[in-house]
Amino acid sequence: MAETLIISPDQSKENIYKELIPQLKALVEGETDLIANLANIAAALKETFGWWWIGFYLVKGDELVLGPFQGPIACTRIKYGRGVCGTTWKEKRSFLVPDVNQFPGHIACSSASVSEIVVPIFDKQGDVFAVLDVDSERFDVLDEVDVKYLEKMAEMIK
Ligand code: SME
Repeated sequence: MAETLIISPDQSKENIYKELIPQLKALVEGETDLIANLANIAAALKETFGWWWIGFYLVKGDELVLGPFQGPIACTRIKYGRGVCGTTWKEKRSFLVPDVNQFPGHIACSSASVSEIVVPIFDKQGDVFAVLDVDSERFDVLDEVDVKYLEKMAEMIK
């Protein structure tokens, strides 16, 4: 397994994802430990896109509990149906939130974060066992291209 990401400079976001995803796939396929894989994916996404915060919350009972992440310290527990993360878990679908102030019940772990994407991660039974959360300090960075490829990434996580 190569421990260095290779991403060509000056290309579209779509092409960056197309280079990144096979490398991440190779990385996670060689390791069975979930936390190790989530940690590497969080690091790879932070290194590639420089987002404000990127990380995972894991379903534990009736809550999401903070998992591997990159960025400032964050809320540790989120109830089912609460915030963007808890709503993603409840509704079993991704949320693109271009302006967090427009999302009722949004949980502000950091006041610097103004837009957000949360993607569910499913187990073999189709239940959500984790969510992937990306936060940006800019309004114009996260879009449907990110949702599409973050969902592909979520499919690699078992
Ligand atoms: N904003 C999220 C909480 C998690 S942090 O952003 C890292 C939410 O509303 O669920």
